[in-house]
Amino acid sequence: MAKLTIDGREIEAQDGQSVLQAALECGIHIPHLCYHPALKVVGSCRMCLIEIEKVPKLQVACGTPVRDGMVVSTQSERVRKARRGVLEFLSINHPLDCPVCDQAGECKLQDYCFEYGQAESRYQEDKRRFPEQDLGSTLVRDMNRCIHCTRCIRFLRDVAGAEAFTLYERGNRTQVGTYLETPVETPFSMNLVDACPVGALTSKHFRFKGRSWLMEKTRTLCAGCSRGCNVYAWSQKGRVLRLTPAENEWVNRFWLCDYGRLTVNDVNADDRLGDALRLGDCVDPEAALDQAAAKLKAYVDAGAGDKIGVVASARLTNEDNYLIRKLAREVLGTRHLAFVEGKEDDRPFEPSDRPLTEWFIREDKMPITWGARDIILSGEPAGDVLGLIAKARRGELKALLVFGEDLTRVTGEDRVVEVEFLFATGTHKTRTVELAHIAVPEATYLEKGGTFTNEEGRVQRLRPVVAPPGRARSAWQTARELAGRMGAGWSYRATAEVTAEIAAKVPGYQEVDFIEMPEEGQMVEHA
Ligand code: FES
Repeated sequence: MAKLTIDGREIEAQDGQSVLQAALECGIHIPHLCYHPALKVVGSCRMCLIEIEKVPKLQVACGTPVRDGMVVSTQSERVRKARRGVLEFLSINHPLDCPVCDQAGECKLQDYCFEYGQAESRYQEDKRRFPEQDLGSTLVRDMNRCIHCTRCIRFLRDVAGAEAFTLYERGNRTQVGTYLETPVETPFSMNLVDACPVGALTSKHFRFKGRSWLMEKTRTLCAGCSRGCNVYAWSQKGRVLRLTPAENEWVNRFWLCDYGRLTVNDVNADDRLGDALRLGDCVDPEAALDQAAAKLKAYVDAGAGDKIGVVASARLTNEDNYLIRKLAREVLGTRHLAFVEGKEDDRPFEPSDRPLTEWFIREDKMPITWGARDIILSGEPAGDVLGLIAKARRGELKALLVFGEDLTRVTGEDRVVEVEFLFATGTHKTRTVELAHIAVPEATYLEKGGTFTNEEGRVQRLRPVVAPPGRARSAWQTARELAGRMGAGWSYRATAEVTAEIAAKVPGYQEVDFIEMPEEGQMVEHA
């Protein structure tokens, strides 16, 4: 440990830390552009200059290790004057296009120019000009805005394991880009947009769609695979415009893959289901639930509850699956419960310094395969969806309830199963929804609260970002409505109440607390 003084404040820092890291950890802000906590230090932008007692020249805080007894000044007039000079230099070629730049509002260069009052330039010569460059399906490069911090090059080379970007040409003509202008082919390409501190790299999927100060930012989870990456969902006027990574050292660090980011397109798709469907006609969801519950009750009253099959899904939340299971076991009284799960991945899960491609992307594209096993099975024998479908085809089932799944994707056939009564919930107009006798709309992962249990047994909190379309709701609410109409008398009003019951009833989940859950999540023991 080293004891040092920054701006008159005594702090302790780990040996080997840089002054910048130590200062940021203590809440002392030192301006920086080329520094990123997950990338190698290059000290190229010179924005983090500081004054150190008994050291004649100003030093870069990102490249200076802490020493015991060090006395640092980050705000002296000498430091501020030097930073103003650096800013003027960095802005020489930077265009004044903040009004049309996607980075405006979250641009460090813009913030620092504002902070240091760098409103004018003494540079009278022409600014350099480069045409916009298309970098493939996800990125556009605007070299005019680049400040040569090389964060993009270091991210691709050292983190993503792709030697795609480099510096080429010399002096005023220096450019950052791909060899021979080839597209960037990596599943992590959109992290370059986050890594770029200015607006030189922008996302094709988000360009000109929203301004950061007009959007709401909600911390939640990605549902693209079993990793459970933490994300910020940015929304405006009830529509989610983009997902960006939220830091979680144990899950995704600072990153998010392109596949996960683009799951937002499904949420905004035109074929979302907002109203109930019955035999192709739109009906009121409440009336649809009344009819479905009456039908199911008739089976139960006739002693045929065990002839009802129920399909849950690893796409849903723990709370959804818990109440689906309870509906099947306690209200319908059926043994025929199964869930659609993802494909297991035998690669190690832990974040590490190996390239992202080796540890980040998971084969299992369902967010809670493990959580569904914990909750649906709860120590009972595995439910097999294909087995359930086979039973239905042999005529052993009279009715089938399918929550949040399209069975045609599971079977690979265009038909579902011929049963007397097929009930389905769905986020989109899938084949199963179209073929169901009654279908009700369901909220997607960005429209509901709950918890996900990821592949390593980490329970994390999902937060609603926007309202679902029409009268779509969570699957647990649909299960509650059906149970209530069948006389079960359940009293759940909020997701937290279902989570509390999971903590009380599901082995290994005792510590899970919906309200007090830390951002990094809570580990549970897999059953
Ligand atoms: Fe230290 Fe760029 S952040 S030189």
